Amino acid sequence: MSLSLRWRALLLSLLLTSTAAFATDPPAQAKPVAPATTAAPKPGHAAIASANFLATNAGLDVLARGGNAFDAAVAVASTLSVVEPESSGLGGGFMAVLRRASDGREVFIDAREVAPAAVDAKDYLNADGSPNRDAALNGPLSAGIPGEPAGLAWLSRHYGKLPLSASLAPAIRTARDGFQPDSRLRNAIAERADDLKRWPASEAKYFVDGKPPVEGRLWHDPDQARTLEILAKEGRDGFYRGEVARKLVAAVRAAGGNWTEADLAGYQVKERAPISVDYRGYRIVTAPPPSSGGVAIAEILNILRGVDMDKLDRAHRVHYVVEAMRRAFRDHNDYLGDPDFVKMPLDMLLSPFYADGLRQSILPDKATPSSMLPHTGASDPGPHTTHFSIIDKDGNMIAVTSTVNYTLGSTFVAAGTGVLLNDEMDDFALVPGKPNVYGLLGSKANAPVGGKRMLSSMSPSLVIGQDRTAVIGSPGGSTIITQVLEGILAFIDGKDAGAIVAQKRYHHQFLPDRVDVEPGVFDPATAKELQRMGYTLHPRDPWGFMNVVTWDHRSNTLQAASDPRRPSGLGKVQ
Ligand code: GLY
Repeated sequence: MSLSLRWRALLLSLLLTSTAAFATDPPAQAKPVAPATTAAPKPGHAAIASANFLATNAGLDVLARGGNAFDAAVAVASTLSVVEPESSGLGGGFMAVLRRASDGREVFIDAREVAPAAVDAKDYLNADGSPNRDAALNGPLSAGIPGEPAGLAWLSRHYGKLPLSASLAPAIRTARDGFQPDSRLRNAIAERADDLKRWPASEAKYFVDGKPPVEGRLWHDPDQARTLEILAKEGRDGFYRGEVARKLVAAVRAAGGNWTEADLAGYQVKERAPISVDYRGYRIVTAPPPSSGGVAIAEILNILRGVDMDKLDRAHRVHYVVEAMRRAFRDHNDYLGDPDFVKMPLDMLLSPFYADGLRQSILPDKATPSSMLPHTGASDPGPHTTHFSIIDKDGNMIAVTSTVNYTLGSTFVAAGTGVLLNDEMDDFALVPGKPNVYGLLGSKANAPVGGKRMLSSMSPSLVIGQDRTAVIGSPGGSTIITQVLEGILAFIDGKDAGAIVAQKRYHHQFLPDRVDVEPGVFDPATAKELQRMGYTLHPRDPWGFMNVVTWDHRSNTLQAASDPRRPSGLGKVQ
């Protein structure tokens, strides 16, 4: 029996036999949901929260020069490419959800990397058939065709007010004039020194006399400045055709990779309809496939919609959230991939009736072992991927999550470009049945094929209510989904931006069957009660780097907050 069939059979048997199932009917819908086209009042001022103060200031600078939120997003993302290369950059990709104030247009911008046409799954296997983790995570074979430069050019051209050159100017200045690398970047370079030193252009970029940059010294990135200047002058063709494209392909192929100039020239940004889900009077607008994030968040909220959370104590609220996470991650593994290549049962996964069934399978007082629900590894939410959130004075909003995948991506810099390539190929299910770096398994739906986008967990989201709106997201591999979910729930509970980013986190991803917990997330009595219900609580170091902006329509005030777990971020209202 296939796993899906086994699952459905299990669900059916639970539905038929469970007398202890918890449900409330009707679901806890507090207020009417704000229609998508409601003309929002203008805040009159702007807010940006990002992972680096130089990037936040770059965005604010572009706003001050007459740009809108989308121009500011280009400035923030391109500056992060220079100052936070461990997390995102020109050699990677991004996903964004935006809302344009003038007409209420809400759209998902998919600038995710794609597999090169010559991708061959055998390249990610050792001679004995075991997974070749080095090929999947390091060097040019691990890199998908970047989407970030095309995505930035797209944002500027279709949604911005300023020329691309104006929005890229702060990043070019920072790369040319130099900046002081923060401790995260210095530590990332030290941590990945052995891999970086395998590639001469990477060593030349990240080491001075064989040593990572030191605190307080200015660091310059002239090659990336030049690539950004060409992009500024020529638009997307400046990266995907001509001199830069030729250098990228030559460097990749010389080091054993398989990119072609046609791969780069053929790269396309996709606009997709976001996933929209109503929960307790708010409408959550979030990422569709090829992200799994929005589907999982919608599935979890649809399950929780039928639970009267206000009547539960903390332990039982956490119990329902964890059980909903468990079920959503199971579906993540089994069904999702690039919508341009695979048919996915989204109608089923997003249906309230499907969620009703899943909710019925949750025992009110007991954990469901994941082994009872077919299927998957361990996650490592390290310092990779980045998220920023922006609202401008007119009420335009954008949530952007951008990545090179693992810390410093593939560690491979393409000589002469300053571009550090991603290692996003590991987000494909490269070897059936074997987990990726985040412990996530995949099915055929996420198998690598030339031109196909690899599944992501990135979950940039808008939470739109009658009185309050939030722009939210975070990095953290598979934990992105649960971080964003917990942030959404906190916002809906009335918490402000600072409290949302600071709140302690917990995470369950189906397998390993445990609840990852930050120190102090549960008081002793709640922890004891959860253990009594059958949960294994697994302490971990704090994770994530959430950046949130909120807008209270009643007082017309904005807030911006950056995760206190990392000192380099900045949330600012101007
Ligand atoms: N590379 C991490 C993600 O896209 O989920």
